[in-house]
Amino acid sequence: MSYVEILGSGAYVPSKILSNKDLEGIVDTSDEWIVTRTGIRERRIAVDEETSDVASVAAKRALENSKVSKEEIDYIIVATLSGETITPSTACMVQSKIGAINATAYDLNGACSGFIYALIQGEALIKASKAKKVLVIGVEILSKFVDWKDRNTCVLFGDGAGAVVLSEGDKGIITTYSKSFGDLGMCLTIGGTPLNNIFMEEPVKALDSSIHMEGGSVFKFATSAMVEAVEKVALDGGITLDDIDIIIPHQANYRIIEYASKKLKMDINKFFINLDKYGNTSSASVPIALNEALEKGIIKTNMNVVMVAFGGGLTVGATLVKF
Ligand code: UT7
Repeated sequence: MSYVEILGSGAYVPSKILSNKDLEGIVDTSDEWIVTRTGIRERRIAVDEETSDVASVAAKRALENSKVSKEEIDYIIVATLSGETITPSTACMVQSKIGAINATAYDLNGACSGFIYALIQGEALIKASKAKKVLVIGVEILSKFVDWKDRNTCVLFGDGAGAVVLSEGDKGIITTYSKSFGDLGMCLTIGGTPLNNIFMEEPVKALDSSIHMEGGSVFKFATSAMVEAVEKVALDGGITLDDIDIIIPHQANYRIIEYASKKLKMDINKFFINLDKYGNTSSASVPIALNEALEKGIIKTNMNVVMVAFGGGLTVGATLVKF
């Protein structure tokens, strides 16, 4: 065995559509501002289903498309920062909902880079002969953390899930790259549970649990991190940028992708973009886009595909895959 292959994919988004026009009635914004600054036209919002429900539908679709049974799955790795409980993990809930009784299941928080980080772990488990089949899921219900009074952020995010099944194969993941920049972490925050117990005189003040982002700083990081990551996987994979057929980028902002295409001197049409329909779904954005590109037949056999993501942490990750 020399490679780890993506056998198939699946995705699911909640049915409620929140358009830019709808947002005009919630905050002081306009369809024109959102489209020109981000490219986003609408996003999906979960109203009657939780993180594990959304993830489970994507997972079942990925299993079906991969022709792999739920019992064959050795590991379920869920990339998320928006699970419904801290424990059980979203991955354990998915295991129960889909009946993957033989799996080890756990969550991983790499924010928007989470799906790539999870893919890297899945590949490593198979290469180390610790698993034969790994289900990797990216899922977020970011609407839980959106401050609907903050026009700087509430127009950007959406809910959804994407999943893939990994297995040994004669082609597949050629190389991966990841890096984190913890010193820049406070550019993009969602508060958690701070230190607070009976032995303390004063509990630590909690960060606000809604999304806060220094948009400009993250934009600057995203553009350079994305370009570097694509160049790195091409170099490590022994191909030129011209040999890349399709890039599946994190779907945060059309202008970030446009900047990267110019900097890399790659045709923007090589970048698969669907953020107009879903907004930024964090760790779900790459697998949702990958699934759509596969379903539409845009990704064909023997193509070199790069998936690349960046986000909270701050983090970046990329992989070069031969399909
Ligand atoms: O997945 C995690 C990674 N996250 C990202 O990649 C996000 C990266 N950052 C971005 O995509 C962009 O920085 C944003 C889309 C968040 C913001 O775009 P921008 O072009 O950097 O706008 P800005 O923050 O500089 O704001 C420009 C103006 C401001 O008004 P003034 O101060 O110039 O009068 C904002 O108050 O636009 C205003 N503004 C809005 N106006 C209408 C900010 N949000 C809105 C809005 N509607 N929704």
